[in-house]
Amino acid sequence: MMESTGALELLRARALGFFTPRPGRRPAPRQAGNLVEEFRPDHTALAMLGLTEDRVVRVERCASRRVVLMVELADGSACLVKFPDTDTELDNDYERVVLGMLADLELTPRARQAVPRLVAAGGGTRAIALDVIKDCDSLRELTQRDPEVDVRHLVNLAAALVDLHQAPVQDAYRRFPEWLLHPPVPMTTRLTPYEYAHGAGLDFDIYLRVMQELEGHFRELHAQWRPDTIVHYDLRDDNILFPRDPGADCVVRLIDWELAGFGDPCYDVGYLVGQFLVESVRRHGDAEALDTARRNARTFLSAYRSLSGITGDMELRVLRYAGVSLLLQAAMRLQQLGMLTQVGHLCLLYGKRLIADPTLKVIMK
Ligand SMILES: Nc1ncnc2c1ncn2[C@@H]1O[C@H](COP(=O)(O)OP(=O)(O)O)[C@@H](O)[C@H]1O
Ligand SMILES: [Mg+2]
Repeated sequence: MMESTGALELLRARALGFFTPRPGRRPAPRQAGNLVEEFRPDHTALAMLGLTEDRVVRVERCASRRVVLMVELADGSACLVKFPDTDTELDNDYERVVLGMLADLELTPRARQAVPRLVAAGGGTRAIALDVIKDCDSLRELTQRDPEVDVRHLVNLAAALVDLHQAPVQDAYRRFPEWLLHPPVPMTTRLTPYEYAHGAGLDFDIYLRVMQELEGHFRELHAQWRPDTIVHYDLRDDNILFPRDPGADCVVRLIDWELAGFGDPCYDVGYLVGQFLVESVRRHGDAEALDTARRNARTFLSAYRSLSGITGDMELRVLRYAGVSLLLQAAMRLQQLGMLTQVGHLCLLYGKRLIADPTLKVIMK
């Protein structure tokens, strides 16, 4: 699985920004608007999960490339049903496996409430049903509304992550050794002619040159990788939800566990710090937005630090991973938009700076 050449190849293609050949690759995603109109809930599939028509009051499609449904039930509860991706490369059961693994881990209540619970799976379908947070905002929605994130949210997020990273994983690792992860940076950056010919986007050469300059640092990141804990590995701002009701028994929820596995906890932390910086870059490097992003990052980081007691050494790794998070954002733009655009160029610049000189300067000013 994760260790297979297929997965490593995908990781390399993702980090270096070229396309991999994909059997049955889909054309460009259709407009979200069209999807909503065309959409008819598949009641047979829902029934296979025990969500029979007499129990279902309302079905709403969530924003996602794949089919993700919010299903409201007659008893007032709701659940989220995720169908596998129709893209053959991405059609897998990783999330079901990881959620099952998380269910068996010994988690503190704080970490437990931050993790979705699998309410139904199997029964002849490959879809999974999860419990939901009813009225919530993603970190992305919050920062779009107001760039300065509520300190309580940042502290709750740090606390949940610390507990998750401290859960013992020896037994789980013994059962799922294929779920060992690597840092998402290439070991070597010299491309084969085939890879070069499949470079994504107009600015591929610019991107590749920066990646090649960083090759020595990438090798170091591989050497220093400590896969000691469960890591989410995809802590993007739209995979972090905060309930709107301050009295809710859940204070933060991390969703979308498809990429999770055993990895270095510094990666999750750094990826998140990088997300704050990405949000400021989306505002085209506006000085005030950058200050606010740094403040969010600092608050989150110091909460994580004081609750977990990470060392200075680890902190440098966190900052380098924040840089990796910016590079991945740039690569994603190449693949999805066909060019870096101003935001991608800035991500590349900040990412490179953070990886080459991971001092707190960029964040602390
Ligand atoms: N537990 C949940 N509570 C509320 N909304 C959710 C929950 N899980 C997912 N969603 C909604 O569904 C969307 C897609 O779910 P996600 O698990 O992130 O799948 P994808 O792999 O498609 O990104 C999310 O962006 C969010 O809007
Ligand atoms: Mg998601």
